[in-house]
Amino acid sequence: MASAVGLDIGTHAIKIAEVRKTRNAAALVRLGRRATPLGATKSGVIVKPKDVAAEISALLREMRLRPRNVVTAVAGQGVILRSLVMPPMGRDEMAEAVKWEVQAQIPFPVEECVYDFDIVGEVFDDSSGQAKQRVSLVAAKKEIVDSFIETLRLCKVLPKVIDVQPFSIVRSLSMRECWASILQESAESELTDMPSPRQGATGSFPVVGSIGGERLPGLDDLEHMGLEELRALAVELENGADPMDGIDPGDGVPNREVPGELDLAAETQPTAGMAAGSVRSISEDQYRLSERLVAASADNERYSPPCMVVLDIGAGTTDLVVYSKDELTFTRMIPIGGSAISEAIAHAVGCSSEDAERLKQTTDWIEGTDLESGELADQLVVSAIESVVRAMAREVRRTIDFYNASHKDDPVRGGVLVGGGAKLVGLVEHLSHELGIPMVIGRPYANVSVDRKLLGTAFLEDTAPVMAVSIGLALRGVEEL
Ligand SMILES: Nc1ncnc2c1ncn2[C@@H]1O[C@H](COP(=O)(O)OP(=O)(O)OP(=O)(O)O)[C@@H](O)[C@H]1O
Ligand SMILES: [Mg+2]
Repeated sequence: MASAVGLDIGTHAIKIAEVRKTRNAAALVRLGRRATPLGATKSGVIVKPKDVAAEISALLREMRLRPRNVVTAVAGQGVILRSLVMPPMGRDEMAEAVKWEVQAQIPFPVEECVYDFDIVGEVFDDSSGQAKQRVSLVAAKKEIVDSFIETLRLCKVLPKVIDVQPFSIVRSLSMRECWASILQESAESELTDMPSPRQGATGSFPVVGSIGGERLPGLDDLEHMGLEELRALAVELENGADPMDGIDPGDGVPNREVPGELDLAAETQPTAGMAAGSVRSISEDQYRLSERLVAASADNERYSPPCMVVLDIGAGTTDLVVYSKDELTFTRMIPIGGSAISEAIAHAVGCSSEDAERLKQTTDWIEGTDLESGELADQLVVSAIESVVRAMAREVRRTIDFYNASHKDDPVRGGVLVGGGAKLVGLVEHLSHELGIPMVIGRPYANVSVDRKLLGTAFLEDTAPVMAVSIGLALRGVEEL
């Protein structure tokens, strides 16, 4: 069967994923990663195309991959996405109108950029009483696109599509699954309650109740979500059945007897005064029911998860994407990523960048300990990490506040982290706390089947957040086959 290759050329690492088209879906068959030569990219432009091409060729050889149907993506400040609303018109007329919009909206001259547009839907304009077209506009500096084409030409790869990264970030994720795992983690931290020091520092989230005034789906959402299975479960519960029939509660769940009756109405009252990060104990029934809720909502295609933010924390930048009702509604690039943390460490303790990289990965900056020795970590390292993470969190928060102010009816309610930076110890908990929304690390295997024997489970888990863009790009390639 034919396959497509996703090639993510990051400032820190080159990532490649191969996805094969199968009869009903797509299968992930190969993954590979290799360091990007130092200083090879600058503001999204590949400034050392020969060096990068050599590494791509070496990685393709290592993976025994023939570069066919390759999809890659440009990123950075020179890549811009805009959502336009235009009166109904033909495609040619639209092309002319979009050209004017490019001139008006893009902060660099139109002759220096490559752009494309797509009509993505319709909106009703109240003021004119007319149906209008929603147009998605993408523009990238020609210099960036040319540097990619030159690099790929040098390694004899003919790209089928050059995409833009914000689109590919979410393609490998399922927002429904991400929301389900947020609920799952909330349930677990509620049940185990009893905060470990880190949980205590950052808080955990109620499954039933409210977060920052917003209710999370809880037991009384069962009907609302139209989940037949859960409705039946509620009836079963009211009739005194064991809600967890056939479910293994797993580790850490006390094996108490399930009470004969569960008062659904009483259980769903939000606790007075509950605020972001506050902890409320939930009953075992609720925990178990929430597990079923999670499983059913992940499977149920009618269930639309709430608006969520996805952060791709790379080395050079953090790309922020807001996703609502299966649509990308907002993007922003924040110029702070994992490299800024390593640089801050190197500067603070006067070490090499390799040592700074190692210190970043082995320091628990929240607990203030060295993960390898278990002893107290160097306070200078802890402060360096903390100051960059705080700056990043501040920018993300400002952006979400800005977004929420203009989307009051559908604000951001949860978040997903991908990219290598997502692996920083304690980052996901810290951001959850700082932003006041629950967050999880994304697993980019929602839209592909994975042969675990072929790829190795430990490798899959270790590289999960890092490979999101490359898998998303390969999936785009499969759509084109
Ligand atoms: N265990 C870890 N803890 C902390 N940071 C990590 C860990 N593993 C990787 N990183 C960081 O992740 C970053 C690399 O991630 P990724 O490969 O997603 O970046 P990139 O795509 O090359 O960068 P960009 O998207 O900005 O061009 C580096 O800054 C690296 O230090
Ligand atoms: Mg990246």
